[in-house]
Amino acid sequence: MRMPLWYGGDYNPEQWPEEVWAEDVALMRRAGVTLVTVGVFSWSRLEPAEGRYTFGWLDRVLDLLAGGGIGVDLAVPTASPPPWFSLAHPDALTVTRDGVRLTHGSRDTYCVSAPAYREASMRITRALAERYRDHRAPVMWHVHNEYGTPCHCDHAAAAFRAWLRRRYGGLDALNDAWTTAFWGQHYSDWAQITPPRATQYLPNPGQALDFRRFVSDEMLAHFTEQRDLLRELTPGVPVTTNYVLAGWACVDHWKWSREVDLVSVDDYPSGRGMAAAEQTAFTADLARSWAGGRPWLLMEQATGYVLGPRAAPKEPGEIARHSLQHVARGSQGAMFFQWRASRGGAEQWHPGMVPHAGPDSRVFREVCALGEALGRIPAPAGGSLDGPPVAEAEVAILWDEEAWWAVQGPGLPSAEIDYLAAAQQAHRVLWRQGVAVCFAHPSHDLPAYRAVLVPSLYLISDAAARNLAAYVEGGGTLVVSFFSGIADEHTRIRLGGYPGALREILGVRVEEFRPLAEPVELPELGPATVWSEVVHLEGAEAVARYPGGRPAVTRHRFGAGTAWYVSTRLDDSGYARVLAHAGPAGSGTPGVEVVRQRDRVFAINHTEDEQPVPVDGIDLITGRPVDGSLGPGGYVVVPAGAPESSVMYP
Ligand code: GAL
Repeated sequence: MRMPLWYGGDYNPEQWPEEVWAEDVALMRRAGVTLVTVGVFSWSRLEPAEGRYTFGWLDRVLDLLAGGGIGVDLAVPTASPPPWFSLAHPDALTVTRDGVRLTHGSRDTYCVSAPAYREASMRITRALAERYRDHRAPVMWHVHNEYGTPCHCDHAAAAFRAWLRRRYGGLDALNDAWTTAFWGQHYSDWAQITPPRATQYLPNPGQALDFRRFVSDEMLAHFTEQRDLLRELTPGVPVTTNYVLAGWACVDHWKWSREVDLVSVDDYPSGRGMAAAEQTAFTADLARSWAGGRPWLLMEQATGYVLGPRAAPKEPGEIARHSLQHVARGSQGAMFFQWRASRGGAEQWHPGMVPHAGPDSRVFREVCALGEALGRIPAPAGGSLDGPPVAEAEVAILWDEEAWWAVQGPGLPSAEIDYLAAAQQAHRVLWRQGVAVCFAHPSHDLPAYRAVLVPSLYLISDAAARNLAAYVEGGGTLVVSFFSGIADEHTRIRLGGYPGALREILGVRVEEFRPLAEPVELPELGPATVWSEVVHLEGAEAVARYPGGRPAVTRHRFGAGTAWYVSTRLDDSGYARVLAHAGPAGSGTPGVEVVRQRDRVFAINHTEDEQPVPVDGIDLITGRPVDGSLGPGGYVVVPAGAPESSVMYP
């Protein structure tokens, strides 16, 4: 039997007098809410003093929700330790790279390596699991919230050293990997090594990268401790933690996704209109790819504008369209932060499913309409947490947080090389053409893909480079963008010419970089900005040239396949032209998204005009026939016959 989709959001009843709770549940029922995340920041209300618990209020909340038929994604509140904890354990407060020890007063102010924090995390987790193991409301555990706080204190330093010892075994290997011969940084004792704290000038890039790897692993260790305890105490209840995205990637998502029972992501697009739709598709495709065919869930999004620099309003209809973009890509539902907009506190201006204006509002009406619509769309596969098999996509974009971190490292030849922007461009250009895209790690099996795009992948291991070579030799099409393949996994430059590890596959040798102060015009491809390279052909042919005649874009037959190299930054239409030459192009209408799952098809019109869509049948949402076109901002979900489009999801 197919389960309903999850629909709801973070519910923070402790912010409200108890009289409001019954209204909350009534409104949730009106809105079709099926799941709420409770207690994400409730630690100080659950454990007001060490080892003293006040679960009464949460008992009443869970009983009310269960009575209303609403499932609970019960949180382990470790993202916000109580003030008493910080005062009792000042050594567990975050220290910045400048050596400033932060004070409680916000959230996420802890050191994940501090023993007191680890112990307190286990204690509250155990107490919650023992209290609610037999309660009928919890259906899922939500550990922490958006892991992403690095700390530079002495606890972190000790844990970093232990991590380095495991990674390198001995100091010789570490000194070699970090090239400590430069600037006399040679370490003769492990005790000399610290996190990359503020220093006089450029820090060591190997140290900076390893610290980011360490932070990801250290936070993962915190997560898996809680997960293992929860699995022991409440076997069968899935455990998740919500990933934060956008420009803030503190964890290695491929690695983490192997450890969670359910991948869940938060999505706050920074753009407006079409840009927001493009960013939403990007996040959803990342989540789908990390989940690797297993279930995943959109855990947070907003009903409207978001605080600060992300203050992009949502226009009428976008709440539903963005939610459906995720559901179309296999999300088991659509969740928001938060249920009721707060009246006070740091995020009092963050929108809610119930806005400050109350239920008599456009937003709440849209929330109810979405709940009704999702209620008519069953979850993609057997059960809400029994997810779809691996999705099929024609084109893969390589995604690797380590490579991104390396590009964010110190001392690079341009501050304008932006891995995220390059990956988003590759995705956006194909999204506009209706080409199904997924993301893959450079070491993943690639043969199934018609083309693999490599956006500015500065760092690549030897093994991953061999993997790409095998893919092309076997008949694949590889499109590599500038500043790829240059560094090894220790951020050391590969010698003999760029792009080091990929030279042979690409049939080029880059002698030097020529960052561009001004754009130059490439015939047929338009403006080239930021970057250019002195490319020598070593087997490849030039497809486009810089003014003056040097090769800018090249093509190389390698084995049974072809490898393309784009040695500068093109705008979207220039990049789309290269892709059209290389192969991965589609014929979709920009802004009209048609996503096929195994047995149904989603069509979403993000434009302001009526648009033809290659879909007919009865819309599951409205029960009305679809006649091959969609009104402005419209969307439908229809049962699918045999897939005819190239866009195919689980
Ligand atoms: C998320 C976070 C939520 C809330 C939201 C506001 O990143 O998990 O707790 O802060 O942002 O945009």
